[in-house]
Amino acid sequence: MHMSAPGRRPRILVVTPEITCLPARMGPRASAIRAKAGGLADATASLVDGLERRGAEVHVAIPHYRKIFRDHGAAATHDDQAGQRIHLADDAFFHHQDRVYRDHSGEAQHAALLFQREVIHRIIPAVQPDLIHCNDWMTSLIPAAAKARGIRSLFTIHNVHSHDVTLSHMAAAGMAPQDFWQHLFYARAPGESEHARWHGAVRMLTSGIFAADHVNTVSPGFLRELADGHHGAAGNGIQHEIRQKLAAGRASGVLNAPDPSFDPGSDPALAATFGAGNHAAGKAANKRALQEELGLEPDPAAPVFFWPSRLDPTQKGPELLAEILHRTLSDHWHRGLQVAIIADGPFQHCLRQIVDHHGLHRRVAVHGFDERLARLGHAGADFMLMPSRFEPCGLPQMIAPLYGCLPVVHATGGLRDTVRPLDVGSSSGNGFRFEDADGNGLRWAIDQAMIFHQLPPRVRQRQIRRIMAESRDEFDAGRFTENYLDLYASLLGREVAPSTRSKPAAAPPPRTGKRRLPREKFLPLESRPAA
Ligand code: GLC
Repeated sequence: MHMSAPGRRPRILVVTPEITCLPARMGPRASAIRAKAGGLADATASLVDGLERRGAEVHVAIPHYRKIFRDHGAAATHDDQAGQRIHLADDAFFHHQDRVYRDHSGEAQHAALLFQREVIHRIIPAVQPDLIHCNDWMTSLIPAAAKARGIRSLFTIHNVHSHDVTLSHMAAAGMAPQDFWQHLFYARAPGESEHARWHGAVRMLTSGIFAADHVNTVSPGFLRELADGHHGAAGNGIQHEIRQKLAAGRASGVLNAPDPSFDPGSDPALAATFGAGNHAAGKAANKRALQEELGLEPDPAAPVFFWPSRLDPTQKGPELLAEILHRTLSDHWHRGLQVAIIADGPFQHCLRQIVDHHGLHRRVAVHGFDERLARLGHAGADFMLMPSRFEPCGLPQMIAPLYGCLPVVHATGGLRDTVRPLDVGSSSGNGFRFEDADGNGLRWAIDQAMIFHQLPPRVRQRQIRRIMAESRDEFDAGRFTENYLDLYASLLGREVAPSTRSKPAAAPPPRTGKRRLPREKFLPLESRPAA
């Protein structure tokens, strides 16, 4: 069993299958590491950066995606180098992968086993962490191995995807599951027989929840939904295990936060930077640039709806937009309504067909995802569309209001937690949300946004100014880091960063550390009133 050296700072190992970027201070490899499929990469990048700034000793483990990483040479810096804090899980399988996740489920499982084999049998013994922070199903067997070695672990659920494996699959991938099989979650009780034990299904995600010392989802609302058995959680043991953890006070919801670079006052991707005070002129300049780049009608009065997230029908709801797109545009034609889609995904083709069929090119743009254009989208558009069927957290609905772009969302998971109905009369709320995940629900919310858009400019601008200012405080990266630091400290029984409460280790970006969210954002669900 590993015991932490007395007196030294606690060592945190963050394990993730993807990350957007790493702070330069983490060494020569940092600049080369970038492997992103979705929001998990952004969330882990913000976390590691925040922990670094607060002076925590943080290590990162990620597969060695040689082909994906930008600078192959730098990434390959030898792992034994003293002081190395970026640890690459090396297997030839990863070297030639050209994206993070494999479509073929057998390959995805195999990749997850190879990654975890390297973490469990090579990286953990080398790093000797005091706490291992695992993220999502590809890391979900690690808490069991950590438990067997007496190392504390936190398991963060970013999504409900999972796979089943067997102990014999694990052994075939080079793991030694006999060291930790007791801490895994089985579809059926493994029983006494050797055969049943080695060939019975181990539920990956559920194992992470079962074995971790603490489990968190990326929003309080999503935790409640899993505890209520939504999103398939009832059938695969997730609901039961989440409830057990909640009863033991070992489950919570911790909201993600946008990266501090999402700031309309300094964002280099914008045609003009702006703040709450001069948003009307700033947004007008960005709208002009957005319309020009996307080939939309150059209409300064047009209400523009921006779609930033993956066009993935299992989660993000692009089929809802496809269902109502033509009708909505026709009904609001004389008001000039425009839709700017800057996103990849399987539904792109279908949306393009609708645009082609009805000749909507000057009103609807369908463009592949591009980071710079997406930022311009938040700055130039009036509203942001996110009708996700489910959403563990979601980032665009927190980024958009920072840029004075009001979110239109389905009330689910993290979207429900962060978007409140706008009420001009009482000057409260920050967007528009609908309850039923269907075309009518989305259409209703778009119509609400259009009613707001037709208010006198003075009235509208006062609300946008308020929402921009409130969002800077509410969606603050400093608060997000502190919530995780609190969680680590409660798991270890001591502080993780020397300067947690007083001054940050390095100058933080302008928005960090301004204000902490009320504690309830972070408390286990039982102690919160029902929504
Ligand atoms: C996943 C979820 C998304 C969340 C992200 C980061 O991509 O689908 O809701 O924001 O992880 O936690």
